[in-house]
Amino acid sequence: MTLTIIGAGYVGLTSAVVYAELGHTVYLARRSIEKLEALKRGEVDFYEPGLSEAVRDTINRGTLRPTTDLAGAVSDSSVVMICVGTPPREDGSADLSQVFAVAETIAPLLADHTVVVNKSTVPVGTGEKVEAIIQKRLSKQSTMSVASCPEFLREGTALADLRNPDRIVIGTESIRARSALLELHRPLPGKRVVTDRRSAELIKYSSNAFLATKISFINEIANLCDEVGANVDDVAYGMGLDPRIGSAFLHSGIGYGGSCFPKDTQALHSIALEHDYEFKLLKAVIEVNQAQRRQFIRKIKKTLGEVRDKTIGVLGLSFKPFTDDIRQSASIDIVRWLHDQGARVVAYDPQAEHKAMQEIPRLQVCPVAEEVFTGAHAVLVLTEWPQFRCLPWAACKQGMISPIVFDGRNMLDAQHMREMGFQYYSVGRP
Ligand code: UGA
Repeated sequence: MTLTIIGAGYVGLTSAVVYAELGHTVYLARRSIEKLEALKRGEVDFYEPGLSEAVRDTINRGTLRPTTDLAGAVSDSSVVMICVGTPPREDGSADLSQVFAVAETIAPLLADHTVVVNKSTVPVGTGEKVEAIIQKRLSKQSTMSVASCPEFLREGTALADLRNPDRIVIGTESIRARSALLELHRPLPGKRVVTDRRSAELIKYSSNAFLATKISFINEIANLCDEVGANVDDVAYGMGLDPRIGSAFLHSGIGYGGSCFPKDTQALHSIALEHDYEFKLLKAVIEVNQAQRRQFIRKIKKTLGEVRDKTIGVLGLSFKPFTDDIRQSASIDIVRWLHDQGARVVAYDPQAEHKAMQEIPRLQVCPVAEEVFTGAHAVLVLTEWPQFRCLPWAACKQGMISPIVFDGRNMLDAQHMREMGFQYYSVGRP
């Protein structure tokens, strides 16, 4: 099939690559010639494992076709996908201006019977609004349909998630769109969930909100573990063995971040309010997540007292490992708090240093992880990059002023850390 993807962020670019790998012809619309040329060289604006290589491969195969000729691409396609951002507005609701702008632009360009697919995360009812915008500007002879196909990929494992989805959700009332989208995804594994457009839109928000709920739940259990002297790792393991609960997303720490969970939980809460429904559980999930960072800060204050003029080493800046994304990163919040309190922060992250320095210009970063220990009054582990486990911790300790480690991701072995002589604190582990 021939499709056009509009939006070259995490969802747009990675989806374009995977549809191109399946053998479809995929036009990827780009506005600037420079960005187009960079993409052709495999240069990607963000770090995602394997993506540059996959972009180069699919371009060389001729199935991925970055282009600035939007009109040519759209009129040649039977499917057009909208994959643009839906950032949060001040009040937490989703800003749909980019989605609507794309709808206006593509409307006069669509060939007859085109299926317009919305892959951006959007509030329930957006499909209808997009359809209305397009209908107004559609050429008289054409028909089209708007479907919802939400995306469930995670940053850091985006390509693997797209190549092996657990489910493909197709939300449409149109028989023609349904068969086109079933055909488009035919080579991929995973269950097909064919439903109406509104339910598809809600599946996306509900999935993210439920995962966020699991995280906030286990974080509250971790806080309780701290009070009663239990171990959250064992509690989560014991709970997760029940298949009705499942072990995924029961890892406690300093809370969730990123461009999705914080934004989507807020947006779902706003959607409910717009319909006069107060989603109490979700409100609590959001509050618990915000409080979790403060809880960790309280722990630091309790042990170190004043942090003014102290040197604090930080391991990890991104919101999760295997990405350079620092949006809503708990680590960035904690670094900001340390700076506000007058501490000197020395940080290391394998990928996110550049973006973190743009965000916090006074941040001091090190080229290697070992350097954050030198002269430090304490080291904080704030992102669970697996390589932090393999650091020569005992040797690193020698350079510290006081051997104190706060592990905000519960990634190190508490007993081993203490045997090496560290004063070690984590979240919900005695
Ligand atoms: C999330 C969802 O997992 C994807 O399915 C979804 O497609 C995506 O949002 C989206 O809406 O685009 P992502 O934000 O990339 O993916 O990352 P996750 O792996 O879900 O992690 C989110 C945050 O939760 C991270 O800060 C992570 O550290 C935290 N987390 C995750 C925990 O604190 N504990 C856990 O047990 C799991």
